[in-house]
Amino acid sequence: MRMRKMSSRRLDLFVVLTTFAILLSPVLSHLILSTVHRRIDLSTQIVRTITSLKVWNTGSDIVSDVLYTIPDNQAKHLAYLKATVNEGKGRLKSSSAVALPVEVFHPKDAPPSLTFYSISLPKALRKGDTLNLNILAVLTHILEPFPPHKITQADIQLLLFQDSAHYLSPYSVNLQSLTLKLPYARIESYSKLPNYKLQGSGLKYGPYENLPPFSYLPLVVHFENNKPFAVAREVVREIEVSHWGIVQITEHYTLVHGGEQSKGEFSRLDYQARPNVRGASAFRRLVAKLPPRAHSVYCRDENGNISTSSLWSDSKKTELEIEPRYPMFGGWKTEFTIGYGLPLQDFLYGSDGKRFLNITFGSPMNELVINTLFVKVVLPQGSNEILASIPFPVKQWQETKISHMDVAGRPVVVLEKNNVVPEHNEYFQVYYKFNSLSMLREPLMLISGFFLLFVAYIIYMRADLSISKSSASYLAKIQWEEMQATVQKVHDIISLCLTTHDKLESSLHDLSRTGDVQVCKATRKSVDSLLKELSKELKSLVSFLQSSPQASHILPKVEEMVAKERDLQERLMAKHSTVVDCYEKKLGRREIENRIASYQQKIPSLRQKIDYLMDFIDEI
Ligand SMILES: *[C@@H]1O[C@H](CO)[C@@H](O)[C@H](O)[C@H]1NC(C)=O
Ligand SMILES: *[C@@H]1O[C@H](CO)[C@@H](O)[C@H](O)[C@H]1NC(C)=O
Repeated sequence: MRMRKMSSRRLDLFVVLTTFAILLSPVLSHLILSTVHRRIDLSTQIVRTITSLKVWNTGSDIVSDVLYTIPDNQAKHLAYLKATVNEGKGRLKSSSAVALPVEVFHPKDAPPSLTFYSISLPKALRKGDTLNLNILAVLTHILEPFPPHKITQADIQLLLFQDSAHYLSPYSVNLQSLTLKLPYARIESYSKLPNYKLQGSGLKYGPYENLPPFSYLPLVVHFENNKPFAVAREVVREIEVSHWGIVQITEHYTLVHGGEQSKGEFSRLDYQARPNVRGASAFRRLVAKLPPRAHSVYCRDENGNISTSSLWSDSKKTELEIEPRYPMFGGWKTEFTIGYGLPLQDFLYGSDGKRFLNITFGSPMNELVINTLFVKVVLPQGSNEILASIPFPVKQWQETKISHMDVAGRPVVVLEKNNVVPEHNEYFQVYYKFNSLSMLREPLMLISGFFLLFVAYIIYMRADLSISKSSASYLAKIQWEEMQATVQKVHDIISLCLTTHDKLESSLHDLSRTGDVQVCKATRKSVDSLLKELSKELKSLVSFLQSSPQASHILPKVEEMVAKERDLQERLMAKHSTVVDCYEKKLGRREIENRIASYQQKIPSLRQKIDYLMDFIDEI
């Protein structure tokens, strides 16, 4: 019932076509298609039709163009069309063969529901000549979800494809067949036309013999397809050329699941428990095939790095697998950016200021359909006479990109293309001239930039402008000042110690003059407690300096000075005790001299060393 309703739409087309076949056929009758084999691949979201035909000129007029037709309702989904000559009889190698020029053709009195393309042949066909052609047509957004209601998370995705089982052509066809490749052997329903055969996931129609021009036999297939329908609404692919040895690629994706829209609530629990059943049409990962020597690969979204992305590489390619934060169901959207660097010498050629970039156009993502792709080629500053050469029509214009290091900005070639498929991943070139002197501009700016920064720093240090109290430089300044104050305190305390030493020495001098042991002992007692206090304070100051990174340069000298003072202090104490002891024992002057000689010996040199260290520290 459903099917019949759909087919009635096609019936109108059929009536129209039959009428036009009669009108057009006299003009085209000298060409015959002796064989036509069509293969339609429905296994992914992208529909690929490969038509292999053998053209035979039976008329006496020389023929240099062949017409190829697509119904309008398919033509509006056409993303890519490539015609090549098929030299060998065996398997087609259309990807490597040279593409023949193809353009839209408007025949007089053409049927309204057909789009004609004219293929220019490499050499004209004379009477009796034949030529084998392969035509690849790539269609997007043509598989209709059916029934057209939103599916739930658990449902499988059913799609509808319609075409004609007879090759729709302005020429008569002697022998033809059609094969449809489906994703699974399980097919919901399909038109049971004459000579149909279902073999696994392949559905075959034909052979059909001796059909007149514009033969049309409606065909409908209703099938399950849970393949990822990854559609990018927009991709901005920036290719930045730096003569310092790198091509930096940054690609921003706005991605949607282009399949059947999900209805109802998404249940992560359901999805995780039985991912294949509850979420059959969801896609979990995307694979990007990057060039072999890609490096510094990253993948991030607005929340940061997508950590579940993984990377592996061999000599032929680098593969990046991206797992979005949640599985993508029909109608769901996500945004992310991938970036990677490529070695310049793999993509930039030329010499003497004439250069060209030779790199692929499209996205490296597998089986991705891009509604709008912007390719921006950012050239080095000072590039001129820029010319882009792309093997298919694109919109193009030039812009200027200004970054913080540029004076004049970098020239940017922007290429815009709608409905982009993996087949568009062809090489394109951007030619430009470049004066090597402008290469020096950036490092010079860098150097003068640093010089200015340096000058600014000096001015800042001198002027001591008030700056934010939380800034790192402010904190560093505070710590520096604190360290200096501590060193100064150590210096002052050592100085105080030396004064105290002098007091101790003068008490011995007094003793030799007065012979008053008690006064001398009292002085010693007060000196002892003062030095004890001072040494306690020194200890804490030194340990502060030991913990301060900014004191590292001066710390050894401070520690040496403190150690020498301790050494001197001990000798002076021992000497003092000995002298007092001698006085108490009423020993003679000579005896005293002998007993203190060993202490006395080193005192002047220690004192000298301490004075030197104090001067040294004072200088800093
Ligand atoms: C993201 O990844 C890049 C490259 O691996 C790394 O340099 C950066 O620190 C990462 N950022 C975060 C926020 O993890
Ligand atoms: C660009 O590179 C490809 C792959 O290396 C190569 O086949 C093609 O000839 C190059 N195109 C030009 C114009 O050099």
